[in-house]
Amino acid sequence: MAKQTTAIVLAAGRGERMKTQKPKVLHAAAGRPLIDHVLNALSSAGVNNIRVVVGYAGDQVRQHLWGKPGIEFFAQTTQLGTADAVKSAQIETLAENVIICCGDTPLVSGEDFSAALHHFSKLNSDVLVVSARVKNPTGLGRIVRDGQGRIKKIVEEKDASAIEKKINEINTGVYVVKGEILKKYLPLITNDNAKKEFYLTDIIKLTLNDKKKVEVLTGPARIGVGVNNQEDLARATRSLYNRKARELMQLGVTIIDPNTTYIDADVTIGAETVIGQGCVISAGTTIGVGCNIEPYCHVRASQIGNRVELRWGTLVDQSEIHESAVVGPYARLRPETIVEHEAHVGNFVELKKTRLGARAKANHLTYLGDAEIGEDTNIGCGTITCNYAVDRKKYKTKIGKNVFVGSDTQFVAPVTVGDGAVIASGSTITEDVPSKALAIARSRQTTKTNYNKES
Ligand code: UD1
Ligand code: MG
Repeated sequence: MAKQTTAIVLAAGRGERMKTQKPKVLHAAAGRPLIDHVLNALSSAGVNNIRVVVGYAGDQVRQHLWGKPGIEFFAQTTQLGTADAVKSAQIETLAENVIICCGDTPLVSGEDFSAALHHFSKLNSDVLVVSARVKNPTGLGRIVRDGQGRIKKIVEEKDASAIEKKINEINTGVYVVKGEILKKYLPLITNDNAKKEFYLTDIIKLTLNDKKKVEVLTGPARIGVGVNNQEDLARATRSLYNRKARELMQLGVTIIDPNTTYIDADVTIGAETVIGQGCVISAGTTIGVGCNIEPYCHVRASQIGNRVELRWGTLVDQSEIHESAVVGPYARLRPETIVEHEAHVGNFVELKKTRLGARAKANHLTYLGDAEIGEDTNIGCGTITCNYAVDRKKYKTKIGKNVFVGSDTQFVAPVTVGDGAVIASGSTITEDVPSKALAIARSRQTTKTNYNKES
């Protein structure tokens, strides 16, 4: 059934109440643009033919979604209302069932769409609208029912009577309609209403007049939670983070305080992992089993293996950390860093485009950039790779296995150190060091006896 279904996603409005230039559907909730949440929900309901109606800043919306399979764009040149938006999606080419929804309802889920499609086919409806009962219906279209509880029409806030305004069953903006019904009735919709817009909701009245089968499916209130302003966006974001935390907890992840945890929808985390307070785990991240992510860590687009420890306040961006490594507190891993298994990265250590070999250690106040560090090597406190030269190019530092680097060493790249070498503390290494050699590159100490006459 879902295979023959096309979705029309309305995304042409500007979203004036957001008070931004950016089109509303591109604002991110929980790390993902609003429209992506809707498209993901459609695809998890098996709906893969999607027509997105774009208008305000349409180029930006197209560019954002460009190349996603199954998506076609249709332009609505002037925003004349939701019926006109649907009409813009070349409905004359649609034979099958059509699911219509808005691009600004990020809490809608795949199950919500599946339920709508299931009821539509089970009841053999011509039109199905998904409603919800909400505490505060202000601003939304109300479902008006007759004495027998059957739907009569949908009335918009601005056209509603005082009695109708008291109805708390609202139109979520999700509909399933037969293609032929859309083709026949959309052109009959007029704009004689308070907003002088062509309302898609008028299709209910028109089809009922012709004795078509119109059904209402009452779903959870979140389906209709559309984002219209920044406060709505913050609320939707919080709901998405709560939902993600619940899902992870069901899979055996310990989340110390879900209210201060920000885990994006596409993140995966293994069981027995503990996520501390205030952590931000952003899109594109996977975390293995049995990890301990201490409070206030931020991990973004990174792969974290099993049993990794990230200590307080560590930042990890587009990097890999392998099994049983320990990183932090207050470490910063910048893009393209690989920390291999059981390696240790300590406080105030910054790594960039660096591979730190298995069991290697860089425990204190160090910068390693464009570097390769072999396994079991110890990088002393305060070591720096001078990777950026006066020609404004970056150069590599290669340090072998089992090297002992004394504290406060500088490696002036490009430079290579062989396996098992020893670098004396305070050295500035400008030349390659062979395997097993000792390199000392500092001036000798001069001691002047009886120098301080005062003490
Ligand atoms: C609409 C419904 C209302 C429902 C509510 C649910 C109508 C007339 N009203 O009201 O019953 O309770 O959604 O959130 O349909 N859009 C276009 N082109 C246009 C106008 C709108 O693409 O010309 C898009 C918007 O970008 C948005 C969606 O359609 O994604 C809904 O439009 P909006 O103006 O927010 O309608 P509501 O007043 O919220
Ligand atoms: Mg709206």
